[in-house]
Amino acid sequence: MNAREHEAQHLLQVYGQLPIEPSSAMGVYLHVGDRRIIDFYGGHAVTALGYGHPAMLQALEKQARTLIFQSNAVAMEVRANAADALAAFAPGALNHVFFTNSGAESNENALRIACKLTGRSHVVAIEHGFHGRTAAAGAVTWNSQRWYGFPNRPFDVDFIPRDDVGAVAATITEQTAAVILELVQGLAGAHDLDAAFVRAIAKTCKERGALLIIDEVQTGIGRCGQPFATNIYRIEPDMLTVAKSVAGGLPCGALIVTNAIAGSVGPGDLGSTFGGGPLACALVQTVLEVIQRDKLMDNIRHLSHLIADACPVGPVDSVQGKGFLLGLRVRRNAAAVRSELLERDILVGTSTDPHVIRLLPPYILEQQHVQKLIEALAELPDE
Ligand SMILES: Cc1ncc(COP(=O)(O)O)c(C=O)c1O
Repeated sequence: MNAREHEAQHLLQVYGQLPIEPSSAMGVYLHVGDRRIIDFYGGHAVTALGYGHPAMLQALEKQARTLIFQSNAVAMEVRANAADALAAFAPGALNHVFFTNSGAESNENALRIACKLTGRSHVVAIEHGFHGRTAAAGAVTWNSQRWYGFPNRPFDVDFIPRDDVGAVAATITEQTAAVILELVQGLAGAHDLDAAFVRAIAKTCKERGALLIIDEVQTGIGRCGQPFATNIYRIEPDMLTVAKSVAGGLPCGALIVTNAIAGSVGPGDLGSTFGGGPLACALVQTVLEVIQRDKLMDNIRHLSHLIADACPVGPVDSVQGKGFLLGLRVRRNAAAVRSELLERDILVGTSTDPHVIRLLPPYILEQQHVQKLIEALAELPDE
């Protein structure tokens, strides 16, 4: 019996799975039997430093031996250090952190704060955006009705067609508690929103007293070649949410808010048993240190340009997205192209766009790996 058959015995069958079963991994490689597969997908954008990174292993071991867990009922240096590091990495006035366990939980709490502070019950989101599977995060996710399940949404939601500047002023009103958006829509195929559209949203939020929540769960923590996509778009959100790469592999998310918001949130307003746990926090500090120490955002920008220039070969028509959140637009079915690349020992992701392959590689990727991707793509049929 293979692991897939074994899983089917006692795990709910809710995931479509790839036809590989990695036994271990190191660097950017997944090991499957004798095969070494280059991972351009990074476990849904989580493994920022790749696999078996010595700094992560050392931080984990040290923390596990020192104090494996205590809740937020006690203060801990390791948590304070992680918050310091995240606040320093975050743009501008975003300097207070609440740790969670996932992207959905970060967004759920951002939306809760927005409704509570404004006293308003409307939220605006963008068509094709994805924000997670919990009640509020699912409510602002485009096309979630297929799996949403709950009888009601916690607030009214209006979706703006992406990049439709004209719809912005008509949709964001004085009833709007918050606007939530991904600057580069990840699951939608690494679609980067138009800068003028984003600026119009930020301006209208300020005018109408709506809070701006930027979901950086996929784009953040250096992935776009800057600390956050927010840095690239030069906007000043009220709240920013992260998860995925922030601890490089352990479950961890965070909500980062401005001083002004922090001043309005008090004891008992938010909470989590595992959020801010010492193992995850030790990794947050390590991931942020290594990204900066090893200049990994420079590496991301350099290789991202190379991919954008050289990957339109074989079935690839064009490249969209930013940094290491890239979408390769293919003339054929993306899932078929993914299978053909996997046969050539290259793992990529797909997206909700059937013609876009998604790349979310570890930040330690090297030029030789990009070269392999280009060679493999060039071997595939164009149409
Ligand atoms: C932009 C964005 N927001 C939120 C989420 C939800 O994160 P999680 O699966 O950690 O709840 C995801 C997950 O893919 C995401 O890409």
